Order: sequence, then C-alpha cells, then structure tokens
Amino acid sequence: MDVTFLLNGTQVFLTDISPTTTLLDWLREERQLTGTKEGCNEGDCGACTVMISDADGSRALNGCILFLPQVQGKHVTTVEGIAAPDGTLHPAQTAMIDHHASQCGFCTPGIVVSMATAHLNGATDHDTQLAGNLCRCTGYAPIIRAAAQTARQDVPDHLLFLAKNTSSPQMPHAQTAGSNCFQPQDQDALAAWYLDHPDATLIAGATDVGLWVTKQFRDLGPVAFLNQCDDLRGVTETDSDIHIKAMTTMTDVEVALAPHHPSFAAMIRRYGSVQVRNAATIGGNIANGSPIGDSPPALIALGASLHLRRGDIRRSLPLEDFFIAYGTQDRHPGEFVEAVSIPKQRDSLRCYKLSKRFDQDISAVCGCLTMTGDGKTITDARLAYGGMAGTPKRAAHAEAALIGQPWSEQTMRRAMAAMAEDFQPLSDMRASAAYRLETAQNMILRYFHEASGLATDIHQVTS
Ligand SMILES: Cc1cc2nc3c(=O)[nH]c(=O)nc-3n(C[C@H](O)[C@H](O)[C@H](O)COP(=O)(O)OP(=O)(O)OC[C@H]3O[C@@H](n4cnc5c(N)ncnc54)[C@H](O)[C@@H]3O)c2cc1C
Ligand code: FES
Ligand code: FES
Repeated sequence: MDVTFLLNGTQVFLTDISPTTTLLDWLREERQLTGTKEGCNEGDCGACTVMISDADGSRALNGCILFLPQVQGKHVTTVEGIAAPDGTLHPAQTAMIDHHASQCGFCTPGIVVSMATAHLNGATDHDTQLAGNLCRCTGYAPIIRAAAQTARQDVPDHLLFLAKNTSSPQMPHAQTAGSNCFQPQDQDALAAWYLDHPDATLIAGATDVGLWVTKQFRDLGPVAFLNQCDDLRGVTETDSDIHIKAMTTMTDVEVALAPHHPSFAAMIRRYGSVQVRNAATIGGNIANGSPIGDSPPALIALGASLHLRRGDIRRSLPLEDFFIAYGTQDRHPGEFVEAVSIPKQRDSLRCYKLSKRFDQDISAVCGCLTMTGDGKTITDARLAYGGMAGTPKRAAHAEAALIGQPWSEQTMRRAMAAMAEDFQPLSDMRASAAYRLETAQNMILRYFHEASGLATDIHQVTS
C-alpha cells in the first residue's frame, strides 16, 4: 500500500508499506525520530502523542495505535517539529523547564506535544487536555502550571504555518494494494468492496483494532480503512432527528450533542482521553458490540436507530435490537454501520459513568436514564445500562415499575427493587456483581434527586 503525508513540514512518499505499521513504529524505526516514545503501546499513557493537522484543524493523537494509512494526506508534527527550525524552544518546552515539570522525562515529549496542540487550538482546560498523558512522578501540579504559562504566550509562527499547510493538492490519494488492503474514497466504493470481501476488517479510528495488532500481534488479513470516506463523517440535523454518521469522532459527537443532551456530552468528556476521543468513532463504538462501550446505553435511552448498509441495500433498526448477545450483533457479512440517528426530544437524559478513575477509564457500570411525565405521573422511562449484562441492555422491569406511577421517592425505590429481575451482572476486575447491581439501582435514586434539583455530582457540591 502507498501512503503520502507531510512530516514536520517535509513531504513523505511511502510505497508498499504494510498497512498495519503504526506511525510510532515507523517514526522510531524508519526515521529515527525517537522523541516520540513507546510507553504502553495501547493508547493509555500518551507518551507517543503526535499532532495531526488537516483542513479540519490540528489534534493530538496516540501514534502507537495509529496505522500509517490513517495519516494519508495529513500533516504529522512530532516533538522534533515542535521547536522552531532555528532551535528556539516552543513556549510549552520553556514552561516545562521553568516549572521543573519533568522528572523521569520519558513522558515529557508526549506532554509537550499535547500542550502545544492545546495551545495552538486555544484550549485552556488543561486538566482535560492532559488527562491522556500519564505522569507518575510530578503530581501534575507543575505540569498544569507549565500549561497555564504556555497559554499566556503566542503560538509560534512556524507552528501556525505547519498547521495551515496540511494536505497539498498535488498529494496523490493512497493507492490500494490488491484485495488485501483498500482505502475507499467514499462509502459507495466501500460498500462494493466489502460485499466482495465480507471477511475483511474495517478500520475506523483503530482504538480497538490498533490493540489487536500491538497487543495481540494479530495478522488482520484483508483490511479497509474508512478514514478517507468523507461522506461517512459528520452530524446533520432535521426537525425530527440528529443524524450522526459512523466515522464521526467522539470529539465531534461531544460538540454536536452538548446543546441537546449536555449530560451525554459530559459523559463523553470522560471517555478515554483527548487523544482517544480524537480517533475513536461512534460507528466503531457501536459495531464492536462491547457490553461496556459508553455511547450505546446513552443512545438506547434516547431511542436511537441504527442505519446499516450492505452493497446498495440499506436498513434501519432500533439500536437496542442490534445487540443480540455477547459477541453477536445483528450485522450481516458485508454490512457496515452507516449512521445512528437520535429522535429529537425534550432533554431528560442523565448519564452516569462509574469507573475507578475519573479520566481515561473503562466503565464498570454506565447507566443512562430518561424519564418523562405530566408533572405528577411518569408517562415514559427508558433505563439503559452498560456493564450489567453481555450487551448494553434496558432495565425492563425497573421501567415497568416507573411508568404510570407517581413521581416520588417511593416509586424510585420500587423500581430499584425491580431491577434485581433485570440484571445478573458478573464480577470481574472492575467491580463485583453485588456492587454493580447496587450502584445501578442507586442511579435511579440519583436521577430522582438530580431532577428534583439536588446536587448529586461531587463536582457540583461546593459547601
Ligand atoms: C485508551 C483507551 C481508552 C478507551 N476508553 C473508552 C471509554 O472510556 N469508553 C468507551 O466506550 N470505549 C473506550 N475505548 C474503546 C474504543 O475507543 C471504542 O470502542 C471506540 O469507539 C472504537 O471506535 P474506533 O473508531 O476506534 O473503532 P475501530 O477500532 O476502528 O473498530 C472497532 C470495531 O468496529 C468495527 N467497525 C468500525 N467502524 C465500523 C463501521 N462503520 N461499520 C462496521 N464495523 C465497523 C471494526 O471492524 C472493529 O471490529 C477506549 C480505548 C482505548 C484504547
Ligand atoms: S505508548 Fe502509551 S499511549 Fe501510545
Ligand atoms: S515525567 Fe515521566 S513519570 Fe512523570
């Protein structure tokens, strides 16, 4: 497979590469750009952070789970490209020195690239911007002080120039190499190819698939990269629906949903890290069928529909029906996720992501609840949970105990008791079965208190 991109301002043309070569491995092994570090090699630590720029802007991504074809036509800036060509340090580098914000130093290049990318984008929510960069030694305070100092400086001219000069019109599109690797330019081409290669692995953001290669050392066989299919990306709205195409990243989903369902957006803020959300797509988060994916419970609670395409045939189904059993989804060979749509509604959604760590942690339980009523009686309720069964699943007995009943704590407690009929969760390293059930039940009470105006989030309690 052939790939072309810009690397720290210089054009790169690669021919006949293995499509599952990661950017990190290539930078270190083929270009000796060893400033970009390998820590975990699974998207968790941020030591491998690079800045990727294109017409949509610049973002931080983890190079360890980014395959080379995913940077086709983009501009890659590594830590070696962060300082000016004459060697003048970037304000983030100076600030890290000024504040003694580096101890072991191994994590520092990734931290600097995240900081420089946030600085370029004018982002000043430093905790969020740096949540994907682990540091075990500084306690973070000096790093955050360095980020704050950086934010007061101007963006260096060379970075402004690099970020604006992304893909050039001369840059040819990636070539396909036989039937083993395909990088379609639109979804019609994908649909036709996938019909002929139903056993192929589709690669969207690679935040799951990347680990199959870096951790499980799997040979993926035929692959198709979806990242050039612009017609599979974006959010549109009609009077009745919010339509989210499969390749929309979780970063963009967060922005699009914030005005409609702020609790959903707030939960996405805790989904992985900036680097993960910049890569992960909503289509991948659904298609992987994970029982602990964060967006399916929220989408199911909102009554979302899934749109699938196989060749020229399209079909839609309620998202909850897509998840048949653990590891089994209602998706035929050669069929892919085209989009998911949410019916517009008055917002009553609350999302509760329960994990051991606030940032960058997979949910033990993710409960997403909606309740509507006429002021006295609950007329509808949808309670969808991840982490409680082999699939994301609604709590049918608990819902039945709510609908038609008065809006009261007593009703909530009856629904909590009924939930024992809905779930028999497992114990694993994230939580015990008993803890899962009790916390899932308590989310109903939390919803009630929150909707009644009580502060239930520790981040909202101020006195
Ligand atoms: C460090 C880290 C933290 C994470 N944190 C979270 C978290 O907090 N919450 C959470 O829910 N997940 C989390 N994840 C998991 C992961 O980010 C999600 O599952 C993600 O949404 C997958 O999307 P992707 O685009 O990266 O999919 P990929 O890895 O590209 O693909 C995943 C699967 O979906 C298939 N697929 C992708 N797109 C389509 C399509 N359009 N049609 C059909 N099949 C398709 C692929 O073939 C593959 O089987 C985390 C992952 C990492 C590495
Ligand atoms: S090496 Fe840890 S996120 Fe890439
Ligand atoms: S700088 Fe590496 S652990 Fe803190």
